[in-house]
Amino acid sequence: MGVRLEFDGILVFSLLGLNVLWLAEVCEGGLTSSYVRNDQLSRDMPLDSDVFRVPPGYNAPQQVHITQGDHVGKGVIVSWVTPDEPGSSTVHYWAENTELKRSAKGIVLTYKYFNYTSGYIHHCSIFDLEFDTKYFYEVGIGNTTRKFWFRTPPSVGPDVPYTFGLIGDLGQTHDSNRTLTHYELNPVKGQTLLFVGDLSYADAYPFHDNNRWDTWGRFIERSAAYQPWIWSAGNHEIDFLPDIGEGKPFKPYRNRFYVPYRASRSTSPLWYSIKRASAYIIVLSSYSAYGKYTPQYKWLEKELPKVNRTETPWLIVIMHCPFYSSYIHHYMEGESMRVMYEEWFVEYKVDVVFAGHVHAYERSERISNIAYNIVNGICTPVSDQSAPVYITIGDGGNLEGLVTDMTEPQPRYSAYREASFGHGTFDIKNRSHALFSWHRNQDGYAVEADSLWLHNRIWKPASEESIIAAV
Ligand SMILES: *[C@@H]1O[C@H](CO)[C@@H](O)[C@H](O)[C@H]1NC(C)=O
Ligand SMILES: *[C@@H]1O[C@H](CO)[C@@H](O)[C@H](O)[C@H]1NC(C)=O
Ligand SMILES: *[C@@H]1O[C@H](CO)[C@@H](O)[C@H](O)[C@H]1NC(C)=O
Ligand SMILES: *[C@@H]1O[C@H](CO)[C@@H](O)[C@H](O)[C@H]1NC(C)=O
Ligand SMILES: *[C@@H]1O[C@H](CO)[C@@H](O)[C@H](O)[C@H]1NC(C)=O
Ligand SMILES: [Fe+2]
Repeated sequence: MGVRLEFDGILVFSLLGLNVLWLAEVCEGGLTSSYVRNDQLSRDMPLDSDVFRVPPGYNAPQQVHITQGDHVGKGVIVSWVTPDEPGSSTVHYWAENTELKRSAKGIVLTYKYFNYTSGYIHHCSIFDLEFDTKYFYEVGIGNTTRKFWFRTPPSVGPDVPYTFGLIGDLGQTHDSNRTLTHYELNPVKGQTLLFVGDLSYADAYPFHDNNRWDTWGRFIERSAAYQPWIWSAGNHEIDFLPDIGEGKPFKPYRNRFYVPYRASRSTSPLWYSIKRASAYIIVLSSYSAYGKYTPQYKWLEKELPKVNRTETPWLIVIMHCPFYSSYIHHYMEGESMRVMYEEWFVEYKVDVVFAGHVHAYERSERISNIAYNIVNGICTPVSDQSAPVYITIGDGGNLEGLVTDMTEPQPRYSAYREASFGHGTFDIKNRSHALFSWHRNQDGYAVEADSLWLHNRIWKPASEESIIAAV
């Protein structure tokens, strides 16, 4: 496993007239980077910001976003909002260089949250697309149609290169906008975004003002209308406020973000799986019941043995709350879920687990902590090559700011940690190699602040292919 760090020792540079001091310190564990930064909390962008602009025209579709719509990547769910009247829930779509326009009809819904009433929210599933094809699509009617495009992934298979982006805890501040811009301009070019929860932070407003869900939808459209964002829910999606009559958890999230959960035989949109290119992605819900006999537990128990690593060598889990985090904020919050599921992650050789929640970046060594049985006292993480790498990427840039306080000394399981805003990329080259990189917002678009080559533990390098045994 190769680790490449772009800096060690001390490096000082000037950013917007602000002197930023980078210090990298090697502790008992891995590497802690600390730097003196502007500690002002980033504010949400004002309502009249360019990123929140309502598209022109009567009843113009807004907040357009897409996600995968089936289990293998031949389907897309297109979602959008019309503000004035329901209009049409039909999506017209056509492959590049073809004449044939097809259409699919979706559904429209509205919901209320306290004294807020949503616009008309449309969700339309398109199925049976060709793999690896650029499609244009159009929503809206009459004078106010809007046109976008996306590219379907290649057919599922072990050697299909594919690049995922990773963003968590994004919110809608100026820092959020920087994170999204860095993701868009990153030359690694993420093709699909894995979102690790905590989307709009609308719940920071009185009565969880759901207008901030709408502004967030308009903010992310510039990316999410053109490439699928794969959703997982965080604590800021719960929107549980029984004092004002809002006692149904995840109400705004579930109305706004449809996911293809039935395609993986899940009974809830909060946990599901998809295959995409050479990856199998399992989405879990940190804030739904996960104990024994619960629906999520039963689903995951059946799901993991189904993953065919001959077909999809890369097994990725995304969820909101990390199992391993050495920051003080949210310390051990993921512990009870870790106790339930870590053993499975090791048994099924999950390659990498991405989480958010902690507003910072951290990457673990391959470690596990599954030997403890109440009486034996064996409760320290140990090096384990069957274990996933755990990556916390909750550094999207929301209004709560960064967390900087870390447990000291840095534990051995922690390979690298830094409190800076940024995003990640997971660049699958083939069945044996994938490059994870973390990109901090203060750097140029091409800089990898931390990166790691992941070697697939099921598929040996090509030279040894003859002795490959598939699970
Ligand atoms: C957000 O970022 C985009 C792209 O860099 C830029 O055009 C826009 O002006 C920014 N908006 C705000 C409010 O910072
Ligand atoms: C179409 O929308 C444009 C932009 O809002 C507007 O200027 C124009 O008058 C509209 N035309 C019709 C026929 O509604
Ligand atoms: C909702 O209620 C709050 C608190 O009373 C008030 O400030 C806000 O203006 C109301 N919004 C609407 C749309 O009525
Ligand atoms: C796993 O996938 C490979 C490649 O697609 C296929 O040949 C094989 O039959 C699958 N195995 C199972 C058990 O489905
Ligand atoms: C897989 O990708 C890695 C990194 O790009 C490369 O070194 C290796 O040769 C590739 N293996 C095959 C079989 O193409
Ligand atoms: Fe969170």
